Amino acid sequence: MFVAVIMAGGRGQRFWPLSTEDKPKQFLDLEKSGRTLIQSTLDRLVPLTGGVERVFVITGERYQALVHDQLPELPHENIILEPVGRDTAPAVALSALEMRARFGDVVMGLFTADHRVGNVPSFQGAVRRAISVTEQTRGLTTLGVKPTFPATGYGYIQAGAPVGAGFKVNRFVEKPDARTAEAYLQNGGYYWNNGIFVWHTSTILEEFAKHAPNILTPLEAAHAGGMVAEVFPKIEKISIDYAVLEKTDKAYMVVADYDWDDLGDWLAVERHLGKDEANTVVGAHVGLDSQGNVIYCDDENATIVTIGVEDMIIVKRGDTVLVTRKDRAQDIKSVLQRPELAK
Ligand code: GDD
Ligand code: MG
Repeated sequence: MFVAVIMAGGRGQRFWPLSTEDKPKQFLDLEKSGRTLIQSTLDRLVPLTGGVERVFVITGERYQALVHDQLPELPHENIILEPVGRDTAPAVALSALEMRARFGDVVMGLFTADHRVGNVPSFQGAVRRAISVTEQTRGLTTLGVKPTFPATGYGYIQAGAPVGAGFKVNRFVEKPDARTAEAYLQNGGYYWNNGIFVWHTSTILEEFAKHAPNILTPLEAAHAGGMVAEVFPKIEKISIDYAVLEKTDKAYMVVADYDWDDLGDWLAVERHLGKDEANTVVGAHVGLDSQGNVIYCDDENATIVTIGVEDMIIVKRGDTVLVTRKDRAQDIKSVLQRPELAK
């Protein structure tokens, strides 16, 4: 049996002001495909689990209503709620406890809710290979993407000896600095972690017990005693990549050979959405001597006009306007710390 858990509690800050704390990017139709990112995620998982009743969503309480609205076919009891977001490690531990309680020692997959997958059959093929490697090794199986530039926003996986349909992982390094990422790229043999994991419920819980007992011990007791709401906010805030993947010696990898994009920031819109001859535009835009810009306007009665402007991101959403150079797009996260922007 294979069960899938979609992690959908992220805040998607680098897509602000389109993505907001009340409605982060997984709940948006960023690709203008007619389905939001979480809806497309569910669509491609159901054939892998053999039914929507074996797909789960773990998310923050504040997103419960959005998940209900956007995934009406998902049984209500398949939404696992965190009282507050503590990043992915506590979310993974809680989902593993929940899956063990419901199904015993089964193979579970953890999936991101907010990525673009260009070729669904090859995505499903890669997940099936990950399931087979997991069954063969009883390890923690990751999906690796061939890197194309020295990204600093991803985990890096160094592939070792071939094992079945994949490889043993020699090393996992979460979000290295630019120089290290450059060295990995030159070196070869490294892949980007695409954020999907496959493992047995028992294996991940054993690895938590070994590498992150400060998370598992209180959470396991709270889960057994119906006290998750009280205990969860006090659990360390840390991602699964730092808490377990960097430390385990049981990691394996299969190659994710499908068209993949984590839609990490506004530049992703440029990669995937329609361009006019000089700019990437959603909404109405009139440009004079303007090129290389990403322009987004949510109001059909409004027009954005640019003159002599290059390589900018200009976004109007509701009563907020963002104007930034493209090479500063990562700094949206920092500006959101400003008290004037706090709600
Ligand atoms: N339930 C829940 N609770 N989900 C969460 C939480 C949380 O507190 N925080 C994040 N998520 C969800 C996000 O919605 C997303 O689907 C997924 O978990 C990954 O979280 P991100 O915050 O987007 O992680 P990241 O992009 O910085 O890094 C991860 O993904 C990269 C690939 O995109 C890491 O796994 C990297 O190693 C990896 O390269
Ligand atoms: Mg991400």
